[in-house]
Amino acid sequence: MQNDPLKPGYDFNAHLVAGLTPISKGNDLDFVIDRPNGMKGFIINLTVKGQGTVFHGDESFTVNEGDLLLFPTGVPHYYHRSEEAEDWYHRWIYFRPRAYWINRLKWENCINGVFITKGVHIDDQEKLELLFKQIEELSKQDEPYSDELTLNLLEQLLIRCKMNQPNLIKKRVDPRITEVLNYMAKHLNEDFSNEKLAELVCLSPSRLGHLFRDEVGMTITQWRDDQRISRAKQLLVTSNYSINQISRLIGYSDPLYFSRVFKNKAGLSPKLYREKVM
Ligand code: FCB
Repeated sequence: MQNDPLKPGYDFNAHLVAGLTPISKGNDLDFVIDRPNGMKGFIINLTVKGQGTVFHGDESFTVNEGDLLLFPTGVPHYYHRSEEAEDWYHRWIYFRPRAYWINRLKWENCINGVFITKGVHIDDQEKLELLFKQIEELSKQDEPYSDELTLNLLEQLLIRCKMNQPNLIKKRVDPRITEVLNYMAKHLNEDFSNEKLAELVCLSPSRLGHLFRDEVGMTITQWRDDQRISRAKQLLVTSNYSINQISRLIGYSDPLYFSRVFKNKAGLSPKLYREKVM
């Protein structure tokens, strides 16, 4: 375990981490970023200088200044500086999306599960880069509401990316999955079963499970826990509720279980999280 997200071995147990990776020929970042199982969250990546290569062999493609990449949860990462280029500087944001972002997280062009947007208009490029920078700055501040502000800017960023898609309305998420997501978002504090969700959209639980994984990239439980923990973080810094109360409010009847899930997802206990930010 180490503290630099630019180097291998960093533990991405967080809802959002952002940075700039300045790779130059021969420098200490000039290696292949290789994560065969992808990551637990999404990554959005913007090339700001030079050229990068994604994947290898027949599947490989390059990205240049202004090009955007979006790696959904679990999609393999394999990228590095292009051999012909001296540099590849890219900004990136690792994040766990909010429930209702799902349709914004599908872009028109997709190679091996990785979405790519090229040819962004120059004015938009500037706006996007500014958002990347602001998000990075904000994400490093431990202040009440900085998490929310960061997610708000990220939402703007994702909307701008979506606006840059050649065909805005294609590539929608299966409406049954949208319904399930909306249902869960509204009833996060309740103890609903997968059978109940399946019934809602007239699918068998196992068919729903598969469809959900295909569309969202994680299991229903993982998604639900992610959303609950993100709500818990909000409550921890913006309310005086005790940890037991928060646990109940977000749908965990067992506070110990809540603390365990929280620690697993946020990297520290709810108590420490609150102390750190307050
Ligand atoms: C860094 C990479 C960057 C991104 C983050 C998550 O090490 O340089 O591209 O993948 O990890």
